Amino acid sequence: MRLQIINKKLSKIKADLELIFVVDKDLKHKFIKDEKAFKFANYKGESILLLTEQARLYVPLNKLNFEEFRLSAAKAYNALKTLNVKTVKLNSYLSACGCAKTSFQAFAEGFLLGAYEFNKYKEKKEIYALKDIIFSSEEFNDVKFDAKEARLGLTHGEIIATATNFTKDVVNEIPEIYTPQKMAEEAQNLAKNYPNLSCKIYDEKFLAKEKMNAFLAVNRASVHPPRLIHLIYKPKDAKKRVIFVGKGLTYDSGGLSLKPADYMLTMKADKSGAAAAMGIIKGAAELNLPFEIHAILGATENMIGGNAYKPDDVLISRSGVSIEVRNTDAEGRLVLADCLSYAQDFKPDILIDMATLTGACVVGLGEYTSGIMGNNEELKAEFKAKAAKSGELTTILEFNPHLRELIKSQIADVSNTASSRYGGAITAGLFLDKFIKDEFKDKWMHQDIAGPAYTEKAWGYNKAGATGAGVRMNLYYLCAMAKEL
Ligand code: BES
Ligand code: ZN
Ligand code: ZN
Repeated sequence: MRLQIINKKLSKIKADLELIFVVDKDLKHKFIKDEKAFKFANYKGESILLLTEQARLYVPLNKLNFEEFRLSAAKAYNALKTLNVKTVKLNSYLSACGCAKTSFQAFAEGFLLGAYEFNKYKEKKEIYALKDIIFSSEEFNDVKFDAKEARLGLTHGEIIATATNFTKDVVNEIPEIYTPQKMAEEAQNLAKNYPNLSCKIYDEKFLAKEKMNAFLAVNRASVHPPRLIHLIYKPKDAKKRVIFVGKGLTYDSGGLSLKPADYMLTMKADKSGAAAAMGIIKGAAELNLPFEIHAILGATENMIGGNAYKPDDVLISRSGVSIEVRNTDAEGRLVLADCLSYAQDFKPDILIDMATLTGACVVGLGEYTSGIMGNNEELKAEFKAKAAKSGELTTILEFNPHLRELIKSQIADVSNTASSRYGGAITAGLFLDKFIKDEFKDKWMHQDIAGPAYTEKAWGYNKAGATGAGVRMNLYYLCAMAKEL
């Protein structure tokens, strides 16, 4: 699909259909030409209205704000896709909200995120006619239209949506196909496609040499060997080094602390943190962001078998901290502990881990929101503010010393599960904090994306299945930081 801006009056653009957004139910707006038809249809501007004779589609837009643009763009796409319409034109009224770049970026994101489908396993694949979305650069009501900024917005929106949809494809792929080795191949492919992206793949021998015993323990009962995947994007004159660490559980059965059947479903999505890190680095490379960005992915399955790691085991992690295993289903933090230790060797200015880490985070925040944790109040607040424009929802979860008490172990330096049922998202974050060296305590942020990474029913511009959580909020954060340089 192509999104473009053409320097012509709207009336001079040839298209099969005109798309008109009805802003805040204002049916008296100068763009609106069909008052008679509205009367006939008793149309109030709350829903989608297709006037076939006039070849016009009206789509409600609640407010001139970026998230509403995404939502309405996705609604418009859904209405358009089933029509026998190839080209659609529309005015540039979106820019009336002040920032042409961000408005058009949000529109492109909503449109392309809304258009995502994972139909690989469907025999019958729908084929849609829609090919071209054409904005007219015509100015209206004396509002200046900055076509250059708007075009930049469309381009950035396309990059960010494509990166997000790439992550969705990774997460939606089935566990039989998407093994740690497959993730490694995907990362290598990415590196091949971008000149300043490189990729290193490490196998179980390397993990053993590095004493990554926590990571290795999780892998032990899997027939698929683990992979530590290290992608590096290095632009010229990078201003900062940002390292993303991703939980890449290609399947989480729970291990010997086996999940109940209902809870095991969707656990192909336990690789969402790693998938998001890949999406971010792909997006960053296309946006030419001025930061050195690393994606360190811990890829493994968590399975059962005679050689499975067990509750009661004690693991000596890469950093030397010993871990009492009390529940093999708290495996993500074990993989991350070793990956975070490895990541700190590369001296990050900012260190972010992303993981579908706890069910507790979903219980606490709901299915739509990621939990942000860390020791640095300013860093978390800055992230939250900068990520907000992306439309992803975040909540900061505060650490406290009482919760820290709950992961103490009688036999080892730390326990992989808390002694209380309560506060599980934060105690998991505090577990990870045990593996952050003093030097990096203030540079680290933990993002628990367990809620939004995968959805069993469609919401907003997300289809059922993977949502690509983490990609947009982190790319928006990086873009906003780049702007401040
Ligand atoms: N991958 C799960 C967390 C999860 C749950 C992600 C629901 C997405 C949706 C994680 O490995 C896990 O099982 N965590 C346990 C930890 C517990 C045993 C301390 C949990 O949350 O129940
Ligand atoms: Zn688990
Ligand atoms: Zn897990």
